[in-house]
Amino acid sequence: MSSRDRILTLGSAEPVILPSLLMCDFGNLEREIRALEDAGCQALHLDVMDGVFVPNLSYGMPIVEAIRKLTDLPLDTHLMIQDPGKYLEAFIDAGSDLISFHAEAVADPAPLLAKLRQANVASGLVVNPGTSLNAVSHHLDACDLLLVMSVDAGFGGQAFNPVALDKLASVAGERREHLILEVDGGVNLDTISECVRAGARWLVVGSAIFRQSDYTAAIRLLQEQARLGLNA
Ligand code: DX5
Ligand code: ZN
Repeated sequence: MSSRDRILTLGSAEPVILPSLLMCDFGNLEREIRALEDAGCQALHLDVMDGVFVPNLSYGMPIVEAIRKLTDLPLDTHLMIQDPGKYLEAFIDAGSDLISFHAEAVADPAPLLAKLRQANVASGLVVNPGTSLNAVSHHLDACDLLLVMSVDAGFGGQAFNPVALDKLASVAGERREHLILEVDGGVNLDTISECVRAGARWLVVGSAIFRQSDYTAAIRLLQEQARLGLNA
């Protein structure tokens, strides 16, 4: 199965919780990943920061590649870097199944989306809280996922910005069958069900998992809360 098919198969019928590995114990990466697999995770979210597009540095291709070797789970790579086109191929080769990049970081997303499609890797466009949906609306048919940030990209542990809910609801209202809606930043037990109610189905969670000692319990509770949003 191609990377893109692995992502599309996961789809968005049910809420999917994606742990963001920003706050994991990198000295025990294998143990962390086994714990997430044992907790029933369906995909992992990898945050790549360059210290230029965002005022923070995280990790790059070698860590994505190392994680690829440790797990068969689909890898959702979130590029918070300037000029993402320059590194697209490297992140494809590192084993990403989905690559998303920020609308604020490119003049025109179209060639990058086309490149990902051609490589059979799923593609995502990302908007920060201050960026209007107008920046991406003409490109939503050419990508597989829209990632709506509910914090300014750059750091884990920030407070949820509800502006994301309006954006999610607005795109969800367009009923684009093919488009996966993902939300990232400040998603926790208090905010997750509103995100699902607004239309998000992929929910990135960092601190609300990694600040807990029992990942299985944390993810189970998040899943229960997320499902409440489906019936609301
Ligand atoms: C922020 C990252 C997020 C972050 C989420 O720039 O894109 O993925 O790690 O962490 P929490 O859930 O703690 O906001
Ligand atoms: Zn992220």
